[in-house]
Amino acid sequence: MDEMKVAAVLLCFTTLFVSVAQASKFWEDFYVNFGDWNVEYPVSTSSGDYKVGDIVNLALDNTTGSGFRSKYPFLYGHIGMKLKLVGGNSAGTVTSYYLASTYKKWCELDFEFLGNVSGEPYILQTNVFAEGKGDREQRIYLWFDPTEDYHYYGILWNQNLILFMVDDVVIRVFHNSKDLGVPYLEYQPMYVYSSIWNGELWATRGGAEKTDWSLQPFVASYKDFDVDSCAVHSHGENQDDSHKCYKKLYSSWYGQADAGKLTKKQVDDLKRIQYNYVIYDYCTDAERFEVTPPECARNWPQSYPVQM
Ligand SMILES: *[C@@H]1O[C@H](CO)[C@@H](O)[C@H](O)[C@H]1NC(C)=O
Ligand SMILES: *[C@@H]1O[C@H](CO)[C@@H](O)[C@H](O)[C@H]1NC(C)=O
Repeated sequence: MDEMKVAAVLLCFTTLFVSVAQASKFWEDFYVNFGDWNVEYPVSTSSGDYKVGDIVNLALDNTTGSGFRSKYPFLYGHIGMKLKLVGGNSAGTVTSYYLASTYKKWCELDFEFLGNVSGEPYILQTNVFAEGKGDREQRIYLWFDPTEDYHYYGILWNQNLILFMVDDVVIRVFHNSKDLGVPYLEYQPMYVYSSIWNGELWATRGGAEKTDWSLQPFVASYKDFDVDSCAVHSHGENQDDSHKCYKKLYSSWYGQADAGKLTKKQVDDLKRIQYNYVIYDYCTDAERFEVTPPECARNWPQSYPVQM
């Protein structure tokens, strides 16, 4: 290698390192879409060296909640972020964090955190809306206190499946079941949203525990937005650059054929979640569904193709 090449390679490495080491500022990726006076950008040295814009706090008080939305929608990939939820008595509060599409058909992949009185567990509710149809709630308890520290919550989404991740644990899978007549999330770039709002009528013990407003503001905190996906910058009748995302899907790690199978660890995770942490599953709610929805048989571990 001549010196020029070495210099070029070094430069590449440096650029790469810098772009990895410096997470982008909140406002480079997101807009505040409501309650802007309840949004703060704290500085922290206690849990690492976080400067203004590295962390965003959303607050709920008796005037409003608050929320943000990504600047661009994303099509397929791996999208996640770290959240620390409202601590202490968070009864009545709902922190939602989700992907949603407002294009032709309504699609949503939801994480909703339902607060609780001090010392009692949060519920994490997930849901999948495809082509306008939801009603696919699952509820779990977490195996840690989500208010004590930041934890990673993310989605992996490709042409075969959608994984809901908590830290490195898969808590839910939604397979593409178009062959069974179940709509799947395709051709729909999705925005990333989050918000905190008042759900005291239903959220905690079915609405039995109300929000204690003397404790306001209630604050949820976010950092380390992490995305390996494809942002769609124009998506409309006349202009559409989402085709580049299909190219990227088929060349990226998240779109490989294997990405439709679960690893042994992921299957074990799902079993553990199903047996120990699930407190509600639409798939077993016979009162609500006379006939079990067709995707259910495929989405829990008995029938998985396992990749060792
Ligand atoms: C909201 O909280 C503030 C501060 O505690 C209080 O002064 C105000 O009366 C409350 N407003 C309502 C509508 O409850
Ligand atoms: C709150 O705590 C109660 C009592 O442990 C529990 O039944 C409930 O599932 C918990 N979570 C929510 C969001 O209600």
